[in-house]
Amino acid sequence: MAIQKPFSKTQIFLFLIVLVNVAVLVTSKSTIEPCSNADSCNALLGYTVYTELKVSEVASLFQIDPIVLLTANAIDISYPDVENHILPSQLFLKVPITCSCVDGIRKSVSTHYKTRPSDTLASIADSVYSGLVSADQIREANSISDPSVLDVGQTLVVPLPCTCFNGTDNLLPAIYLSYVVSPEDTLAGIAARYLTTLTDLMNVNAMGSTAIKAADILAIPLPACASNFPKYAQDYGLMVPNGSYAITASHCLQCSCGPGSLNLYCQPASLAVSCSSMQCKNSNLIVGNVTVQQSGGGCNVTSCNYGGFVNGSIITTLSSSLQPRCPGPQKFPPLKAPPTSVIHDTMFAPAPAPAPQSAGSIGGIPKSPSVYPGVHPAGLSPIGGPAGSASDACSLINPLANLPTAVLLLLYVKLMMVIL
Ligand SMILES: *[C@@H]1O[C@H](CO)[C@@H](O)[C@H](O)[C@H]1NC(C)=O
Ligand SMILES: *[C@@H]1O[C@H](CO)[C@@H](O)[C@H](O)[C@H]1NC(C)=O
Ligand SMILES: *[C@@H]1O[C@H](CO)[C@@H](O)[C@H](O)[C@H]1NC(C)=O
Ligand SMILES: *[C@@H]1O[C@H](CO)[C@@H](O)[C@H](O)[C@H]1NC(C)=O
Ligand SMILES: *[C@@H]1O[C@H](CO)[C@@H](O)[C@H](O)[C@H]1NC(C)=O
Repeated sequence: MAIQKPFSKTQIFLFLIVLVNVAVLVTSKSTIEPCSNADSCNALLGYTVYTELKVSEVASLFQIDPIVLLTANAIDISYPDVENHILPSQLFLKVPITCSCVDGIRKSVSTHYKTRPSDTLASIADSVYSGLVSADQIREANSISDPSVLDVGQTLVVPLPCTCFNGTDNLLPAIYLSYVVSPEDTLAGIAARYLTTLTDLMNVNAMGSTAIKAADILAIPLPACASNFPKYAQDYGLMVPNGSYAITASHCLQCSCGPGSLNLYCQPASLAVSCSSMQCKNSNLIVGNVTVQQSGGGCNVTSCNYGGFVNGSIITTLSSSLQPRCPGPQKFPPLKAPPTSVIHDTMFAPAPAPAPQSAGSIGGIPKSPSVYPGVHPAGLSPIGGPAGSASDACSLINPLANLPTAVLLLLYVKLMMVIL
């Protein structure tokens, strides 16, 4: 059951008081979603690469498939040896994870980290996992009594945040990104960057004001394409965020979402793996094929669709419908070359129109020569808003941000004085 939203301001304030009194010295907060059953969902972590790392090294920090990491970020996997490509420090990536229900709250399925010389709990939390977890949370999850003694090679459980909220936002399919607030961020800037509204972000995160502070973790809804695979399918519940890809069915299929419609589109992946039949019964069409036939009453559209991965078999369904107009060719989210540098570009507002396909096409996916826009932009102002500097925005927000903390600190001091 998802958090009831919206909360009233009083409720939020009371909740904050309870939260801060329970864990007095916890300074950052994250959005907590209660849950009751064992279901799980796809979710994303907003991760900032802390030093130059290979794609496979980032993937192994989260125990995920490097190809899954690349496609989730719309990075072209047709480059030779792309899994060993070195990613630049400070690159912002969306890391797909499975969000499950542990002890009544949403948590990502456990991630493990093997300690290395010179690691501290703080460096693992703040640097290696870019603030997605705190040193205290790692300490608790591993019952570490003396954090100053970490054995090299020790395997630690790293509890990472996530939310599902029923896979919807305002009744539309959505996947949630757990985002670590940076010192330059404002809520308006985040809303603009992720094409959502302040109200929506505040409702999702049960916030009473637009105040945020560095190291808070926000849940950001991203519009997504939903699948309707049967419950017994291995990839049941697959969701692909707008503008990206997912690889499924043992690397046999790739599914994309956007840019035009938010209908999931799956077709054979261009990876050299052996796959079970992808042909639709009683037809010569394979998954992803669409044929159109102009008729008097409109356009007869027949398509062979992917229906889930069951027991090693690819389920296909053939569907025909009469539509008023014939659909154009399938459009794909633009792919980026594996990034080599982090561009602190000021551009993020008007999304570039789908670029003309000048760089050829591989595996049916048009290649776009566009630069990598997924980097973490510093100091954003809202789209179309006044071009004030980021520090102006901060000075407006900060007194608000500090107010509840100050009040609560005062309460805490008073409490301590009573006790003593
Ligand atoms: C979850 O979403 C489905 C549609 O995707 C809807 O039918 C159902 O009522 C929602 N459940 C809750 C608890 O909001
Ligand atoms: C999906 O992404 C495309 C391109 O980035 C954008 O034009 C479109 O508005 C997005 N759709 C939604 C529902 O956000
Ligand atoms: C079906 O799709 C495959 C690639 O996915 C393509 O090579 C083939 O030409 C398509 N066939 C039809 C009939 O569209
Ligand atoms: C549409 O075309 C398919 C095969 O191409 C055919 O089986 C079906 O009867 C057609 N439907 C209509 C309404 O014409
Ligand atoms: C998958 O295979 C197992 C045994 O191989 C069988 O018992 C089960 O019914 C199959 N599931 C489906 C959905 O076909």
